[in-house]
Amino acid sequence: MTTSLTAVDVIVTKRDGNALSDEAITWVLRAYGRGEVADEQMAALAMAIVWRGLDDRELRTWTDAMIESGERLDLSGLSRPTVDKHSTGGVGDKISLILAPLVASCGAAVPQLSGRGLGHTGGTLDKLESIPGWRAALTPDEIHHQLEEVGAVVCAAGERLAPVDRALYALRDVTGTVESIPLIASSIMSKKIAEGTSALVLDVKVGRGAFMGDRQRARELARTMVELGESHGVRTLAQLTAMDAPLGRCVGNALEVRESLDVLEGGGPDDVREVTLSLARDMLALVGLDVDPAAHLDDGRALATFRRMIAAQGGDPDAPLASASHRDHVLAARDGYVRSLDARSIGVAAWRLGAGRARKEDPVSAGAGVICLVREGQPVTAGEPLFELRADDDDHLARGRAALAGAAELADEPGGPHPLLLERVAHESGSTS
Ligand code: URA
Repeated sequence: MTTSLTAVDVIVTKRDGNALSDEAITWVLRAYGRGEVADEQMAALAMAIVWRGLDDRELRTWTDAMIESGERLDLSGLSRPTVDKHSTGGVGDKISLILAPLVASCGAAVPQLSGRGLGHTGGTLDKLESIPGWRAALTPDEIHHQLEEVGAVVCAAGERLAPVDRALYALRDVTGTVESIPLIASSIMSKKIAEGTSALVLDVKVGRGAFMGDRQRARELARTMVELGESHGVRTLAQLTAMDAPLGRCVGNALEVRESLDVLEGGGPDDVREVTLSLARDMLALVGLDVDPAAHLDDGRALATFRRMIAAQGGDPDAPLASASHRDHVLAARDGYVRSLDARSIGVAAWRLGAGRARKEDPVSAGAGVICLVREGQPVTAGEPLFELRADDDDHLARGRAALAGAAELADEPGGPHPLLLERVAHESGSTS
């Protein structure tokens, strides 16, 4: 394509608050993909978008250009309906590990193409890699085959899925330009649309431990993603769920796999079960499957699918999970009630204990993490253990311990209940419930 456009023209247009033409958006993203627009120019454009935004047309074109930068999976030949879930990320968020096999056991195909964790929220692939032998990298043919045979795949999103997003996200991460609703929405949705799912439920986390602390902005992000999905033919629904305290008791890779197995065995923490079932019901409804997912958790059908999913990717579902060698406890300084548990501090502690990474090439510890021994509202006495810390050496243990100072707020009264499921954002009316 010959063009008179230049990167500077595109940056200046957006900097001055004007809309970009479809031609300009397509050109700039293609040229960036070819290395003809420099990182510093793309960073300047991203910053202009942080301030000026993108309107609906610009956002659709931007998302299309990111999808077209790579391959699209074609899952239309599967005998099962496809439906996926995406979470914006939270502390102790192990829902994908349970949800994918659960929904598959109910008759759908769940193609969960995931990324790795960065910062204080853990990545689903890191968690599953704590199962001996399990591998994250699958070819498109392997994904297709596993979806047909087992119904659930959790694997790495290949390099060829929306590659311009991959480059742009890495650039945004180091230029203070992640926090833009159109940039986040197009980044997430380009990958989900390219993955080929026909339906999608978004779990948009709100609160101290989430990417979006503010409910109003979380709702706007949810709406933007729902509309983008629908405009690309993907039936899309979002739930806003609370992320002030960690989900469940365990934060850390193997610890979260163990807790997920508890839920798949019909037990586990109530909050993990509640969010999982709520998302599962919406996923099944979107693809017209009238099945009760709770029965599949209680009678072992979801667990059986989990075991097949792990084995299909080389994992040994019976192998013992890694356990860290060094342990310590944080004790209550006074009598009282647990008023709140701070998800962010607990996520940072797990990260410093070795469960997370600061750079994408860093290794993670399978066994490290935090176990919350108390829940919100519970009475405690001075000296009672609040948290168990696990790490592979004393140095990590000390760093994790420092991050937990003040992570549990103790008060004279237990405080009110904290609802988990805040609202649902659907396409039809664009309204919330
Ligand atoms: N996750 C993504 O994939 N992209 C973003 O921009 C933010 C979170």
